[in-house]
Amino acid sequence: MKIGVIGSGTMGSGIAQVAAQNGHLVYLIDTSQQALSKAKTNLSQTLNRLVDKEKITSEQAIQIGSSIQYSTDLNDLSPCGLVIEAIVENLSIKHELLKKLETVVSIDCVLASNTSSLSIASLGSILNNSNRIIGIHFFNPAPIMPLVEIIPAVQTSELVIESITEIIQKWGKTGVICKDTPGFIVNRVARPFYGEALRIYEEGIADFATIDWAMTHFGGFKMGPFTLMDYIGNDVNYSVTESVFESFYFDPRFKPSFTQKRHKEAGYFGRKSGRGYYDYTEGVELPMPNENEEIGILIFNRILAMLINEAIDAALMQVGTTEAIDLAMTKGVNYPKGLLKWADEIGLPKVLEQLEELFSTYGEDRYRPNALLRKMVKEQTNFY
Ligand SMILES: NC(=O)c1ccc[n+]([C@@H]2O[C@H](COP(=O)([O-])OP(=O)(O)OC[C@H]3O[C@@H](n4cnc5c(N)ncnc54)[C@H](O)[C@@H]3O)[C@@H](O)[C@H]2O)c1
Repeated sequence: MKIGVIGSGTMGSGIAQVAAQNGHLVYLIDTSQQALSKAKTNLSQTLNRLVDKEKITSEQAIQIGSSIQYSTDLNDLSPCGLVIEAIVENLSIKHELLKKLETVVSIDCVLASNTSSLSIASLGSILNNSNRIIGIHFFNPAPIMPLVEIIPAVQTSELVIESITEIIQKWGKTGVICKDTPGFIVNRVARPFYGEALRIYEEGIADFATIDWAMTHFGGFKMGPFTLMDYIGNDVNYSVTESVFESFYFDPRFKPSFTQKRHKEAGYFGRKSGRGYYDYTEGVELPMPNENEEIGILIFNRILAMLINEAIDAALMQVGTTEAIDLAMTKGVNYPKGLLKWADEIGLPKVLEQLEELFSTYGEDRYRPNALLRKMVKEQTNFY
């Protein structure tokens, strides 16, 4: 099957590489010739590195490189059986593209979007044949991150879901089916990792370095929340939070933080701007945490309880199965454990107790323990 990828930026170029590595002929389309040239140069450097590391042979590198055709002409996509769009995150621009695309491709070509925040149903609404729309959400960098969220819209046909699930599996990726709800699994369930860390900082309980230390030291997370936000970019991370908050009709669980907003407004984006929560100027030392065990455990328990509560809500609302929710967080954002498995290990009554304590201290809806958690504690059941 020939694959089309539209948008040759960060995600599109990575997705094109994944498809080419799996033996497809790929058409990579962009309106910008400059973006296409950059994607081509980057891919050739990546392939050379893979040859140097003996991950692929030089023949394979040539084969992969020559499997991608770069073009600014959408008409080149006519022979494709699957087209994945990874253009700018804007509903009207994506609509315009999908509408044009439908006039170019065959009637049975699947049209997929790599959107992080738009609803797949809204994207499909512009199509004449909307049962071919589906979300295929890769994580950055696409060739390395194993997780792919597969998001059928209400319009998507069973046949399309089956064929996409099969392709993603053939590409060696871990596909999880998610309901078409804001943030899908990962970008929804991960919100408290950032939001609760920011709240703890804002209340003056601890500084950035101490909160980061608590999560890496006690939780085994690869990066603490502030290091991770600086890595992702505070501009990008803030707009995901804002979009999830708005999409959930302003549920206080997802309320964005003024601290992050001010950092974004100041241009303190993180690593890419040289300064975020930390100063990345050469020679400047990172601040040391206060390694007070009592405070560290308090921080870790609070953030983890909020993460678990969110994962349980995703389970209650059937955004994904128990296994899908845990796989998504371990394979999509490298969490040390699936949150529902973690909840079982801690003991659901203990998690409920921690949340009830937060809820009674603050009296805020943000801390309400999930109904499924209450029910499971009452019935003395576990996720696994
Ligand atoms: N960056 C991430 O970490 C990430 C992760 C998962 C999903 N996404 C989603 O993937 C999509 C792309 O994100 P990105 O970070 O790769 O963006 P990007 O800015 O790196 O690349 C977008 C590319 O699309 C091109 N483009 C814009 N309009 C176009 C059009 N009408 N036709 C053809 N090409 C067009 C641009 O020239 C640019 O090269 C977005 O929907 C985003 O939400 C991003």
